[in-house]
Amino acid sequence: MNPLLTVENLTVHYGAIQALRGISFSVNQGEIITLIGSNGAGKTTTLHAISHIIEKTSGTIMFNGANISALVPDKIVGAGLVQVPEGRRIFANLRVHDNLEMGAYLRKDHAGIKQDIEMVYNIFPRLRERFHQLSGTLSGGEQQMLAMGRALMSQPKLLLMDEPSMGLSPILVDEIFGIIRRINDAGTTILLVEQNAYRALGIAGRAYILETGEIVQSGSAVDLLRDDRVKNAYLGTS
Ligand SMILES: Nc1ncnc2c1ncn2[C@@H]1O[C@H](COP(=O)(O)OP(=O)(O)O)[C@@H](O)[C@H]1O
Ligand SMILES: [Mg+2]
Repeated sequence: MNPLLTVENLTVHYGAIQALRGISFSVNQGEIITLIGSNGAGKTTTLHAISHIIEKTSGTIMFNGANISALVPDKIVGAGLVQVPEGRRIFANLRVHDNLEMGAYLRKDHAGIKQDIEMVYNIFPRLRERFHQLSGTLSGGEQQMLAMGRALMSQPKLLLMDEPSMGLSPILVDEIFGIIRRINDAGTTILLVEQNAYRALGIAGRAYILETGEIVQSGSAVDLLRDDRVKNAYLGTS
């Protein structure tokens, strides 16, 4: 199978600090892959380097058969690689509906945009109920839904998700992860980065474990859930 995304030997520095030390991983079409790591491991840095929000020092990033390293972020979004940022980053002073329209900023197919907004409202009925509400006044869970809905408006082939469970109650995490699964079932490939290893391994097919800028372990999620080292370090059980 040809991977949809291949990251090879990715290295990133912030000044003198090396945040990523040559990581390599791949995501196949249709998969949910998770990159697990504690705070500061380099998860966000990895996603930002893929989306070209930050410059990498070295490495190769192939998406859908093409080297995307030199593309500006808008072109990467246009190619179908779309990030849902950590901490949601919705436009707080815009209404829900306007945030969703902003997600389609690169598109010109007005009928398709209308159809996709309807699709997003069907996935997230709570957003439909609040379509006129200022986004900054949404709850944390609703803001996560809006951030996901906005990303879907860019018609992603691959969705990069940065810690969607952060700050949410267990019930809301259930809801959000259920929706991630539905989005995947509908054909979108997912790269999920999470500190919440237990939840992430529960939804992913394969996983990579990132520690201080290096991938130290990888395998099927089922195997990693049973692995003693993973249990001790990330699952709080042994
Ligand atoms: N803009 C920045 N300037 C300097 N160091 C940074 C910057 N962003 C992240 N870092 C450092 O890079 C490392 C990885 O950070 P990050 O990718 O945000 O980790 P994670 O998302 O896994 O919590 C950390 O040591 C962090 O302090
Ligand atoms: Mg982060």
